[in-house]
Amino acid sequence: MNVLFSPANLGPLTLRNHLVMAPMTRSRAAGNVPNELMVEYYEQRSTAGLIITEGTSPSPNGLGYPRIPGVFSCAQTEGWKAVTGAVHRKGSKIFLQLMHCGRIAHRLNMPEGARIIAPSAVAASGEMYTDNEGMQSYPVPGEMSEEDIRATIEEYAQASRSAFIVGFDGVELHGANGYLIEQFIRPNTNLRTDGYGGTIENRARFMLEVVEAVAGAIGRERVGIRLSPFGVFNDMPLYDAMEEEYAYLAQELNKTGLAYIHLVDHSSMGAPVVPDSIKETFRREFKGTLILSGGYDAEQAESDLAAGKCDLIAVGRPFLANPDLVERWKTGAPLNEPDMSTAYSPGPKGYIDYPTLEG
Ligand SMILES: Cc1cc2nc3c(=O)[nH]c(=O)nc-3n(C[C@H](O)[C@H](O)[C@H](O)COP(=O)(O)O)c2cc1C
Repeated sequence: MNVLFSPANLGPLTLRNHLVMAPMTRSRAAGNVPNELMVEYYEQRSTAGLIITEGTSPSPNGLGYPRIPGVFSCAQTEGWKAVTGAVHRKGSKIFLQLMHCGRIAHRLNMPEGARIIAPSAVAASGEMYTDNEGMQSYPVPGEMSEEDIRATIEEYAQASRSAFIVGFDGVELHGANGYLIEQFIRPNTNLRTDGYGGTIENRARFMLEVVEAVAGAIGRERVGIRLSPFGVFNDMPLYDAMEEEYAYLAQELNKTGLAYIHLVDHSSMGAPVVPDSIKETFRREFKGTLILSGGYDAEQAESDLAAGKCDLIAVGRPFLANPDLVERWKTGAPLNEPDMSTAYSPGPKGYIDYPTLEG
């Protein structure tokens, strides 16, 4: 494990190792406000080189799921300040994942006055969980006006400024898994006929404008983006031009000079396999840091890093279930298995009570 556990660079930051904790929604933020339980959860996992937080909404309109945090009110930023302080005291770095859910939302999960908006008025098929009324069909979102687009981009910028002020080392834009940015990129959810729809150049515009606004707010070296080429989560079907279009995104993102691209591969969770060719395309076209994620164990992480396939490896479920994952991977100790029944449940059970090697 020569590479995995050695220090790494990420823009201006030095990470203590090449291991990143992948963003994971855990739905413990009652009232959408980060709390002491969350401080403890992130602190426990602060041996990762970099922690990327759970998806966090830049605005009331972006809150789609129950109990996910935001970063737009004073209570929320104060809550996050306690998280970043705890993580930094333990010697780790932390990026905030900005997730605007767009159409993947339900009014029962949103505060009064929030609007469910998306590039086009196309509902996702299927249902989502609400605390008060159980499973509910996805609604038809409102089509964003150009004014909505401008306001939403400003929300991302403001959220990034707030994140930076309360100690985050940077932000990751959630451009994957069927949320707002991907809803603009993909042709099934973007039926617009203005400058934000139609060709891939137009469908990429929202993402690139968000990147520019956030880079302008906190510096491009502190901004990353997560993408899921060949991802189908949240009713995002595959289509013929996908590989070509994501190659274009890689080229355009390279021009922005942002710190990293983080690619998702959910084939270990039953999603279609992400071809190696697309990962190679991103490696070739993007000169910043490339993070790969999905289904990694220590051996595969070391082997992909050593082969130069990427610069950092992000790991989700093993970190969820093993607060001391770094120690366990270093020593070859057995791992706790994640209990998915408590992945999104309120309270400490299945959240901060996974045992460490020390007990
Ligand atoms: C409980 C849970 C919540 C997740 N929430 C998010 C999220 O908020 N944002 C995101 O980009 N990915 C999310 N993911 C995906 C993970 O970041 C990661 O890509 C996935 O778990 C595959 O990596 P793994 O095989 O190492 O677990 C989530 C995954 C899990 C298991």
